[in-house]
Amino acid sequence: MSNKISTLSNYFQEYEKSISNPEQFWSDIADQFYWRKRWKNTLNWNFEKPTINWFEGGRLNITENIFEKQLYTHGDKLALIWEPNNPEEKAKKLTYKQLFKKVCQFANVLRQNGIGKGDVVAVYLPMIPELAITMLACARIGAIHSIVFAGFSSRSLQDRINDANASLLITADGGYRGNKIIPLKEIADEALLNCPSIKKVIYVERTKEKIHIQKHRDFSYSDLTRNVFEENYPEEMDSEDPLFILYTSGSTGKPKGIIHSTGGYMVYTAYTFQNVFQYNSDDVYFCTADIGWITGHSYIIYGPLLSGATTMMYEGVPNYPDPSRFWNIIEKHKVTHFYTAPTAIRALMGYGNDYIQKEKLKTLKVLGTVGEPINEAAWHWYHNHIGQGRCPVVDTWWQTETGGIAISPIAGITPTKPSYATLPLPGIQPIVVDNNGKELKEKNVQGFLCIKFPWPGMSRGIWGDQERFYTTYFKRFPELYFTGDGVKKDEEGYFRIMGRVDDVINVSGHRLGTAEIENAINENPMISESAVVGYPHKIKGEGICAFVVCPGDLITNKETISKSIIMGVNNIIGAIAKPDKIFIIPELPKTRSGKIMRRILRQIAKGEYSNFGDISTLTNSGIIDKIIDVVRK
Ligand code: WT7
Repeated sequence: MSNKISTLSNYFQEYEKSISNPEQFWSDIADQFYWRKRWKNTLNWNFEKPTINWFEGGRLNITENIFEKQLYTHGDKLALIWEPNNPEEKAKKLTYKQLFKKVCQFANVLRQNGIGKGDVVAVYLPMIPELAITMLACARIGAIHSIVFAGFSSRSLQDRINDANASLLITADGGYRGNKIIPLKEIADEALLNCPSIKKVIYVERTKEKIHIQKHRDFSYSDLTRNVFEENYPEEMDSEDPLFILYTSGSTGKPKGIIHSTGGYMVYTAYTFQNVFQYNSDDVYFCTADIGWITGHSYIIYGPLLSGATTMMYEGVPNYPDPSRFWNIIEKHKVTHFYTAPTAIRALMGYGNDYIQKEKLKTLKVLGTVGEPINEAAWHWYHNHIGQGRCPVVDTWWQTETGGIAISPIAGITPTKPSYATLPLPGIQPIVVDNNGKELKEKNVQGFLCIKFPWPGMSRGIWGDQERFYTTYFKRFPELYFTGDGVKKDEEGYFRIMGRVDDVINVSGHRLGTAEIENAINENPMISESAVVGYPHKIKGEGICAFVVCPGDLITNKETISKSIIMGVNNIIGAIAKPDKIFIIPELPKTRSGKIMRRILRQIAKGEYSNFGDISTLTNSGIIDKIIDVVRK
């Protein structure tokens, strides 16, 4: 990429260009891609509607930019290295040419099964190469993939399939996760009991466990691909056609299907990948995320592959068979770039340094973190012990909605500061605002993080609910995109993300709506009401604390209720949403208008039992002491 940032002053120059003339800046970058038809209008936007159109009138296929455009120069280069859960099993490696054939072949299978442009394909797969192939095959034919993290429950899968009206589901018999096998087909079968839009299911045989096969509905991936042509003509897409939907939690109970576009997302993920990580052509890049989250979409698949990089996919978990697993993988595949979540760093740090051998880490050049604030101790441990003091750490702030990294150091170029995401990437215009939406222009301020100008990677909407898109992101602070995060800007203009300011909690780097968890708890007949809040957790960043109220006459023991709540949440949402703490309290603290005063519960969950501030609107002020009594017991 000719716009690759090379020095700090060059960063400031590029940033300046991107602000003074965003259209020129982004069209220069977009011109480095292959378009079947060049766009007419670089940007057309209005946050009041909201309308966000980039590269209007441009026609392209993103997979042509991953494959055809690059095959001539590096078709024999490794595109994907897949490392299995079990270290005894052989890794799989695919060059760009080989991956291309598999993508084309599966794209043909999809077309043969009636899938075409604009159809939604639900994907519920473990971290196996077929997941990468599936998403690219969808993109090839213009189908919209909606990937559901394979840790979600059948109900979550069902809700997402129904919301998106998906016509095909691609899953697997099962998936390996450490020493566990997740029976994905069984979970999917349960979900499909109530998914009228799904006409067909394709399952990959990964674990070879016995599964139920429904005739005329379920087909095996290997059967369908056998002898199918490995050439495929790509669908020509409009720049603004949706590339995928990815569900994420919001402050109401219902997850939202975040929509990303084709052209803008392509330009943005490739540009940010190359710049933030400073990837060079012989590097091996390893992002430990699951493709079921946005990190995997943008920085395992699209960003790296559009950049001709060698990207790794790891099927397992950080501590299986033991906590040296990541370091062994780094040694085995000569990894140069390692990108993971603070929660994994804290967990591995907790096992002590005996699992780390310097020798294994010598190929590393750049480290990255994502998903949640990284505390200073974890940052230093990562920098000193994994990076051996030699690798820059990029703390990358972004969101499912931003499509790609938005605030982050440029590796080796931006001076870092532990726990700071530092400076905005070119094209990003972040501002700090106060409660009234007034911009706090000075340095050393704290407030809400907003972005005042569109960038190509930003979300274009919420599937089936543009009204919610507007109200969630553009209404509270007119003419601004509101991130939902609190932020501090220091004397140098560096940004430090303070965490969510809405009813969303961030557990191990995964976003969960408290309302979503409450809804799941409230389905339990032993519970009449509940309130869920986050609290600081040593490993997970935030833990989940549930305050529950039982109907008056219910007499049963505490353990029984807690167990049943945990099981319920596990079944309704998934294991990631299980509460860490459950307190059965006589009633919830509420205002006269019936609103739960969550700040009181948040404070109690944190272990602070005094100075509750203004509680004059509380109807039942005596309740605070009663709750504290329960918690302290
Ligand atoms: C929320 C977005 C972006 C991919 C993974 C999470 C928090 C994200 C950082 C960071 C502090 C961060 C924010 C954000 N977050 N990165 N480097 N430092 N906080 O995506 O599920 O859409 O969650 O994660 O609160 O709003 P997501």
